[in-house]
Amino acid sequence: MAVLVTGGAGYIGSHTLIELHKAGLESIVYDNLSNASEESLQRVEHIIGKEIPFVKGDTRDKEQLRELFSNYSIDGVIHFAGLKAVGESVQKPLEYYDNNVIGTLRLLEVMREFDCKSIIFSSSATVYGEPEMVPIKEEFSTGNGITNPYGRSKYMIEEILKDLSKSDSSWKIVILRYFNPIGAHESGLIGEDPNGIPNNLMPYISQVAVGKLNELQVFGDNYPTVDGTGVRDYIHVVDLANAHVKALEYIQKQDVMQEPLIVNAGTGMGYSVLEVVKAFERASGKKIPKKIVARRAGDIAICYADVSRAQEILGWSAEFDLEKMCADSWNWQKKNPNGYEAS
Ligand code: NAD
Ligand code: WQD
Repeated sequence: MAVLVTGGAGYIGSHTLIELHKAGLESIVYDNLSNASEESLQRVEHIIGKEIPFVKGDTRDKEQLRELFSNYSIDGVIHFAGLKAVGESVQKPLEYYDNNVIGTLRLLEVMREFDCKSIIFSSSATVYGEPEMVPIKEEFSTGNGITNPYGRSKYMIEEILKDLSKSDSSWKIVILRYFNPIGAHESGLIGEDPNGIPNNLMPYISQVAVGKLNELQVFGDNYPTVDGTGVRDYIHVVDLANAHVKALEYIQKQDVMQEPLIVNAGTGMGYSVLEVVKAFERASGKKIPKKIVARRAGDIAICYADVSRAQEILGWSAEFDLEKMCADSWNWQKKNPNGYEAS
């Protein structure tokens, strides 16, 4: 089976390429490199000892997509390509809807032209908005209380995929709702390489540990949680990568699908900011200076997944614990203090 991996040079995509290879699947990467460098792909090739075809291109470019589908025999698509910075999306809503929603529409149109109707889509727990309760089940309502265009773009794409599936049951669609991916491949060769000052907790902590940033700002300590700080479901990126392999295996077994299969991709465990900091300090042996500051706009108190559907339907569950996530994040950060840039 040959899989087109859009956004395959990025953080989750690059890790997924390795797991696809391990599962005996061929990948073709399509990425516009707007938030990645080819270096990540070269390192993946080094890890797996094999070349991966790469085409630099944009998901909104139909002509180039047609050329891609003409040149390669593609059985299915894992669609990671998209912009993902929550704060930036508030400043640049049109760019986010264009890139994420229009990019997905163009991709789906070309897939239909080439009768390639299997797709796994990278969605996000953000579609649940302020969840009714935790753990969060897939059947909870979505779309209400999403605080930013990034999250709404994911919600809109989910709705488009549901409509598409209704119109034609030969489409086989899995929507994976990622919780908070962190960690890195254990080689330390690939990992998360954010531009500028990180927005997310783990890259921020790692950059404090390596001396690039002075101290962590903890956004609020008065939430109704174990210690007042926000609780999230952190998942090792390699576990998450494996969920895609399981989703592909699932799709291959289906003749038709009446609706997209929607699956939470988390561990089912919630950890507070302070618990993550402590785990990172243990894993790295570094003290993380921190200061409590005001809550960040748009943040919720607690978010973690009910993972029973993933186990029951995909036969997938996360293996790695928080200690391993922190150890691997740290291993990547200390070996690559400037990400892919300095190599
Ligand atoms: P990333 O930015 O590292 O990877 C996305 C990749 O897509 C990048 O390599 C970028 O260059 C490429 N890209 C962006 N727009 C493109 C376009 N129009 N055409 C072609 N390539 C394009 O992000 P990631 O963390 O690996 O996330 C992958 C996907 O998972 C994204 O869709 C993201 O929204 C989603 N997601 C991520 C998280 C997270 O916390 N990392 C959580 C939930 C969902
Ligand atoms: C985690 C916790 C913060 C940074 C975001 C997106 C979501 C998905 C994953 C892309 C929260 C606290 C953070 C810091 C802090 N992304 N924090 N100091 O907000 O759960 O999810 O990333 O698809 O859509 O919204 O992740 O890592 O930003 O925050 O105290 O410097 O850490 O308040 O409680 P979040 P995060």
